[in-house]
Amino acid sequence: SYLEQQNESHMEQYSGVNISNSMFPLPTNVCRVQQWDSEEPVPRAELLAGVAGTRGLLCLLSDRIDREVLDAAGPDLKVISTLSVGFDHLALDEIKKRGIRVGYTPDVLTDATAELTVALLLSACRRLPEAAEQVKSGGWTTWKPLWMCGYGLSDSTVGIIGLGRIVPLTRLAEESDFVVVTCALTPATQGMCNKDFFGRMKKTSVFVNTSRGAVVNQEDLYDALAHGRIAAAGLDVTTPEPLPTDHPLLSLKNCVILPHIGSATYATRSTMAVLAANNLLAGLRGEPMPHELKL
Ligand code: DGY
Repeated sequence: SYLEQQNESHMEQYSGVNISNSMFPLPTNVCRVQQWDSEEPVPRAELLAGVAGTRGLLCLLSDRIDREVLDAAGPDLKVISTLSVGFDHLALDEIKKRGIRVGYTPDVLTDATAELTVALLLSACRRLPEAAEQVKSGGWTTWKPLWMCGYGLSDSTVGIIGLGRIVPLTRLAEESDFVVVTCALTPATQGMCNKDFFGRMKKTSVFVNTSRGAVVNQEDLYDALAHGRIAAAGLDVTTPEPLPTDHPLLSLKNCVILPHIGSATYATRSTMAVLAANNLLAGLRGEPMPHELKL
């Protein structure tokens, strides 16, 4: 969506958007809103055309906000609000240079993402998709002592990358039964989980990623999984997204892949949306944002 603040006495309405009603009277400054009214990502050409002259931009993590978009927006752009806690899709150096403020949505999706992370971890280590498939395909013939066995979470060591004080990555890889990646994607973390990292993990360990796909070298992960160097993986994020349906990782039984649904509960997405809108409005008014990214 594009949102432009104007000193007008009336609302202009685009794509059915109306931000005032009798319960919420118009403030002194009203906004003219131009919305991409679809769940599908806004096509690049539409974004470049639509953003021209706007003062505020509300974007999704699937919208790459780079120099080209900033140039297309022009010098009036004062605030970008992203409906995400991650901000690797934003060209922060360029944004900072232009004095543009950025709002994002930390904290409100932590619980939903943590729940999904645990669900994915258990799905991968206890082979849930594979086991469910056996029921459908007739592979379930009888109860067998070692059939569909996996690795349990009890009494295990879970290493979380992106939580707490710095632990050497090599030690975390070597000692953990479960490695969970939750850190932000930055130049420092890009490709961090690579051949050396997987080589240090135990053969019985499970790798889980719910942060960003590019933290992982996917070819190295494929090799580690295909050759039994690690036991299994659960990925909620990949490179690219969506992952092509013929991607080699999808051919592996010991890899569970989800379509980036970490924060996907109705309540969480709704809270994120309200926070993103409030960040944008505060930025347009020149007020402190509920959650502003320090640039
Ligand atoms: C985010 O917000 O960055 C998550 O990846 C999706 O909710």
